[in-house]
Amino acid sequence: MQVGVHLGYQNLHGLPDYEFFRRETQLAIEAEAMGFDFAAMVEHHFTDYAACPDPLQALSWVAAKTKTIKLMPAAVILPWNDPLRVVEKTAMLDALCEGRLYLGMGRGAARREFKSFNRDLADSREIFDESALIIMNGLETGVVEADGKWFQIPRTEIRPRPEGWTRDRCVMVSMSPSSAEVAADYGLKALRFSQGDWSKAMPEINNYRETFKAKHGKAAPPFIISDFMVCFDSKEKVTEYTDKYFAAQFLQVANHYEFMSDHFKSLPSYATYAYMGQAAEARGGPDKAYKDYVGGNLIGTPEELYEKHLMRKSMVGDYEIIANFSFGGMPYEDVYEQMKLFADKVMPKLKAEEPVLA
Ligand SMILES: Cc1cc2nc3c(=O)[nH]c(=O)nc-3n(C[C@H](O)[C@H](O)[C@H](O)COP(=O)(O)O)c2cc1C
Repeated sequence: MQVGVHLGYQNLHGLPDYEFFRRETQLAIEAEAMGFDFAAMVEHHFTDYAACPDPLQALSWVAAKTKTIKLMPAAVILPWNDPLRVVEKTAMLDALCEGRLYLGMGRGAARREFKSFNRDLADSREIFDESALIIMNGLETGVVEADGKWFQIPRTEIRPRPEGWTRDRCVMVSMSPSSAEVAADYGLKALRFSQGDWSKAMPEINNYRETFKAKHGKAAPPFIISDFMVCFDSKEKVTEYTDKYFAAQFLQVANHYEFMSDHFKSLPSYATYAYMGQAAEARGGPDKAYKDYVGGNLIGTPEELYEKHLMRKSMVGDYEIIANFSFGGMPYEDVYEQMKLFADKVMPKLKAEEPVLA
């Protein structure tokens, strides 16, 4: 199993932005020293919720200070980016990191971010599906051209010329059924967040695997789970930090994406989020949803984390992890401590595991 870190760039520490940005990015450097396989970063704009406007740029800095760790924006949000520039920047960073780059793509869900890019949430499905093909073809062929509804690009050769790109190096966020279908259709590894009870996600995951196999004649690769981690030896500290920082993170997510607001109800491709809002209401409000959310993520002592992983694997089959250790304003000393503890006590067991064919 491959295990990575996922940097969320959430500044709830009250630190000056430059200092917070440097300290968050430094975690990617520490991750290589601790033996993680991946350093992944979000793309988010304009708020404390998350502020990393260009993960490909930030990963260039990491590339210069590392040798082996794989790099992955998780994810470049396609409705907010020009596909031609994404291909160029991806080829540039891939040259600088000598082929250690994987491209994570997503379509976004926060209308406050869409607004500033003059994009509408309602169009994100179409824009993503069109842009992702332009980008992947551009990386595979070294030529970008498009004459679609959203992008018209004359035939253009990319310099530096991209090398060694296949769909195996592209991954796609797929939390919604429509995205799971596109990921399977395009032959892409899927990225998911932990969201409460995994049994509820199984129909979608099975559909993704069946469609992938039917379309590409081979089993789908293990999907990647982005987990929010709380990992300490003391159970008391786990509870204290979960109640303080994980709870803060949960409220930030619900607020940033406005999960409880009505606007998702008129957006069919975001039905998953409309349902989440209603379900939370119906099942006793945010507190119940919060408990489910805690249950779905890997939180506990190293021993408890590994037990939770085995239970999850028995349900969902093979998967990989990119772990979020820095969130909710947790001091960087504690972030470093839990990252190191996880790397020393849990990661070796995860990496030693033989794959179970799902
Ligand atoms: C692993 C993972 C990484 C994500 N990274 C980002 C990100 O960097 N920026 C962002 O706006 N949304 C991010 N999202 C949220 C997606 O944009 C959101 O889930 C959106 O609805 C896309 O998923 P969907 O197409 O499956 O609905 C991420 C989601 C997952 C599961």
